[in-house]
Amino acid sequence: MHLPTLLLAALLTPFIAADCECGYALTLDAHPPQPDERHVFTELTESNFARLHAGGDGDIRRNTDWAPQAFNVSAERGRGAYGEMFSARNIDMLAGDGGLRLTVGSELVRGMVPTAEVATRRLDMMWGTFRASMRLTGVEGTCAAFFWYFNDTQEIDMEFLSKDFNHANGSYPVNLVLQSLEAAAANYDASHTGSFVRAYLPFDPTAGFHEYRIDYFAGRVRFYADGVVLAQMDGPAVPVTAGHLIMRHWSNGNKLWSGGPPERDAAVVVKYVKAYFNSSSPKRQGDWERRCRNPKELSAVCDIPNVTAKNLAAQDWFFSENANMTNNQTVHGLNGVSGRRVEAVSGVMWALLLVSGCALVLL
Ligand SMILES: *[C@@H]1O[C@H](CO)[C@@H](O)[C@H](O)[C@H]1NC(C)=O
Ligand SMILES: *[C@@H]1O[C@H](CO)[C@@H](O)[C@H](O)[C@H]1NC(C)=O
Ligand SMILES: *[C@@H]1O[C@H](CO)[C@@H](O)[C@H](O)[C@H]1NC(C)=O
Ligand SMILES: *[C@@H]1O[C@H](CO)[C@@H](O)[C@H](O)[C@H]1NC(C)=O
Ligand SMILES: *[C@@H]1O[C@H](CO)[C@@H](O)[C@H](O)[C@H]1NC(C)=O
Ligand SMILES: *[C@@H]1O[C@H](CO)[C@@H](O)[C@H](O)[C@H]1NC(C)=O
Ligand SMILES: *[C@@H]1O[C@H](CO)[C@@H](O)[C@H](O)[C@H]1NC(C)=O
Repeated sequence: MHLPTLLLAALLTPFIAADCECGYALTLDAHPPQPDERHVFTELTESNFARLHAGGDGDIRRNTDWAPQAFNVSAERGRGAYGEMFSARNIDMLAGDGGLRLTVGSELVRGMVPTAEVATRRLDMMWGTFRASMRLTGVEGTCAAFFWYFNDTQEIDMEFLSKDFNHANGSYPVNLVLQSLEAAAANYDASHTGSFVRAYLPFDPTAGFHEYRIDYFAGRVRFYADGVVLAQMDGPAVPVTAGHLIMRHWSNGNKLWSGGPPERDAAVVVKYVKAYFNSSSPKRQGDWERRCRNPKELSAVCDIPNVTAKNLAAQDWFFSENANMTNNQTVHGLNGVSGRRVEAVSGVMWALLLVSGCALVLL
């Protein structure tokens, strides 16, 4: 084969190598003598917020995977000094290679702190690996939460309290929590239950983006930062239902938890969220059965790349940004925004390939 053909083959390979019609595989390190564990998930939701544009497709209200939330919480109900006012007004897209910005305002509005939340539209996430790349705020007095939720006693949380970050001694805690019936009995203070771990991050989470991750399996939950396990929990507090993902940035002045309100506006930026999961929906299970003809076929199951400190490049991998790797998935083209369908994107890729192919042949 002469060089141009080889180059063309190399260019084409990523697009024809995999179809992923049987799912996305996660491999976990095991300790010998057990072999590594491999789990296959049939569904995905990938949102590359950094690729969206302020004002245009970055308008969160147009997103087909995520919905901005609007609700008010009274001081009493939130057990805070102030109420919380969740509104789409506190959510916007950073220009350039930014991400989704969730802002907690410093100015009270009718006794409420302006706060921000987005939630996945899909509610059928039953087991999965959920990853969010975030840069946290260095402004004291907020709680940033990345969590999986069904109800107040079926919930998996990663919560970051900006007042607890200590730049002087490099101490950056994250609270890992399963909200359970036991936590409910303790007045939703999970820190008095067995399913609460305060872990310390090996980096400054306000200085840059890092990937935070929750793996939810039957009877077991693992929490990670940049691919390193922070904690594992099992037992009766592990949820047993399907649920959805929420990104929330809030404050209510409770000195024992969020503190605040912040002295100036505080922003958390979300670069992406990637979720690979199984569905509790019989319709989606049926779709998978029709779609997955032979799981043993080479390209039928695709490996989810591991994000680690040594392999940060995996952060930039999105199945949904490649042709034919998300057929029959509900991701609506680039970044889950309606109006930009995946067919159009693959059309552009094909045009590019044809152009580069022609150029190579001409060489
Ligand atoms: C994508 O799938 C369609 C339908 O099966 C097929 O016609 C097309 O050739 C595939 N494209 C690539 C790049 O594999
Ligand atoms: C997800 O569903 C597929 C298809 O039913 C199944 O083969 C796989 O084991 C499930 N994965 C998990 C982690 O339960
Ligand atoms: C929250 O309260 C503000 C101020 O009273 C009000 O304008 C807004 O409509 C409320 N939001 C919702 C979702 O009810
Ligand atoms: C949450 O859902 C579980 C499972 O359906 C149920 O047992 C539990 O009582 C619910 N908790 C609340 C607070 O409603
Ligand atoms: C850093 O200081 C805080 C008090 O602000 C303390 O709680 C924490 O234990 C210290 N961490 C380290 C690693 O010294
Ligand atoms: C991810 O890491 C696991 C455990 O170290 C390994 O077995 C697996 O092959 C890796 N997956 C990929 C896609 O590199
Ligand atoms: C998946 O394929 C089935 C047909 O097998 C179809 O009914 C369904 O609408 C498709 N779903 C998506 C999200 O493309």
